[in-house]
Amino acid sequence: MKNIILVFGTRPEAIKMCPLVTELKKRKEFCVRVLVTGQHREMLSSVLSFFGIEPDFDLCVMSEGQTLFDITEKVMRGVREILEKEKCDLLLVHGDTTTAFAASLAAFYLRVPVGHVEAGLRTYNINAPYPEEFNRVAVDSLSYCHFAPTKLSADRLIAEGRGQDSVFVTGNTVIDALRYTVRKEFSHPALDFANGRRMVLLTSHRRENIGETMQEMFAAIKEVLLSHPDVCVIYPVHPNPAVRAAAQGAFAHFSQVKLTEPLDVFDFHNIMARAYLVLSDSGGVQEEAPAFGVPVLVMRETTERPEGVEAGTVRLIGNTYASVKEGFEALLDDAALYESMAKAKNPYGDGTACKKIADIIEDM
Ligand code: UD1
Ligand code: UDP
Repeated sequence: MKNIILVFGTRPEAIKMCPLVTELKKRKEFCVRVLVTGQHREMLSSVLSFFGIEPDFDLCVMSEGQTLFDITEKVMRGVREILEKEKCDLLLVHGDTTTAFAASLAAFYLRVPVGHVEAGLRTYNINAPYPEEFNRVAVDSLSYCHFAPTKLSADRLIAEGRGQDSVFVTGNTVIDALRYTVRKEFSHPALDFANGRRMVLLTSHRRENIGETMQEMFAAIKEVLLSHPDVCVIYPVHPNPAVRAAAQGAFAHFSQVKLTEPLDVFDFHNIMARAYLVLSDSGGVQEEAPAFGVPVLVMRETTERPEGVEAGTVRLIGNTYASVKEGFEALLDDAALYESMAKAKNPYGDGTACKKIADIIEDM
C-alpha cells in the first residue's frame, strides 16, 4: 500500500488536483489523503464542494492581507507537523504557488519524496510571473518525479538536468477537470446580461500587474468598449482587496461591464465555453480556452504556456494601456484574425492525465 498525500491551497491547484484525487482514490493500492493549506478560503472551498472532496487536513493559513512570508512560514510549519506524524511515501504538489513551494520544501527537509504535477513550465524571467517562476523552478529542483503536461515542458526539464526516468509527459489535468464541468445545456444570469452582445470574459489578478499596470489595462478595456456598444464584459473579480479596488474604480456603474464574485468552477467553465473571447492574465485560463476554441488575449509580457500561442488560440498582447487597447480592438474588428484564432486546438492532452499519473505512481 502506497501512502500518498496531495497538497494544495489555491483555486487553480484545487481545480487541477481534485480530478487526480478522485482517480487515485479509485485504486486499492493507494491510501490517499488530501491536505489543504487554505492559502485561499472561499475560492478553495467552492472547488472542493463541486468535486465532493473532504480534506483530511486543513492548515487554514489564509489571513487578510497575507504576505508571501505569512504563507510560506505557516505552510512549512503545518506540513512539517503532518509529515512528522503521518506515513507518506509520496507528497504530490501542483504548479507554482507558495503552497506548492513551501510544502515541497518541508517534504524535502524531511526526506519525503515529492511528485510535481504540472512540472516544467518556464518563462525564464524570475520576475514574471512573480513569485511563481521561482516557485516552479524550486519545486522542480527538489522533486523526485515530474509530471509534465506537454513534451515541451518535459524537454525543458531534461535540458535542465532532471533524470529522464523522473520526467513523464501526462497532459494537463485541467483537461480532465473540463470533463466534470462542461455541459451542453447551461443557463446563468451572466449570459442573460450579454443578451446577444459579444461577450468577453475578463479575469485579472497577477501580482505583478496589481497597481498602476492594472489601472492602465482596465482603462484600455473601457476605452475599447465605449467604441464597441455590441460588446459586453463579464468580470468575476478575484477577492484580493487590491484587485477589487481596481475593478470597482474602473468599472462600477459602467453598463457594459458586469462585475461578479468569483464564479464557481462549473459556471466559469460553462460561461467561458460560450464567450466570444477571453481577456486574462491568468495561467489556467490559457489552457482551458483553447479546448473550447475561444480566443484568449493574455495581458502579460510573457507566458510559461507557449503551446496555446503556437496553436494560434492565444495571443500575448502585453499589459500597457496602448498594447491592451490595440490587441483588444484588433480582435474585435478583424474578422479574419478572429476566425484564425477561434479554432479548437488543445495542446494539453485528451483528459486522461490523471489516469496516466496514477498508472505511473502505481508502477514506481
Ligand atoms: C495565488 C498564487 C497565484 C495564483 C493565484 C490564483 C502564489 C504566490 N500565488 O495568488 O500563483 O495564480 O493564487 O488565484 O501562491 N483572498 C481572499 N479569499 C480567497 C482567496 C484570496 O480573501 O478565497 C485574498 C487573500 O487574503 C490575499 C489576496 O486575496 O489578501 C491574495 O491571495 P494570495 O493567495 O496571497 O495570492 P493570489 O494573488 O491569490
Ligand atoms: N476560475 C473560476 N472562477 C473564476 C475565475 C477563474 O473557477 O471566477 C478558474 C479557471 O477556470 C481556472 C482557474 O480558476 O481553472 C484559474 O485560476 P486563477 O486565474 O485564479 O489562477 P492561475 O491559473 O492564474 O494560477
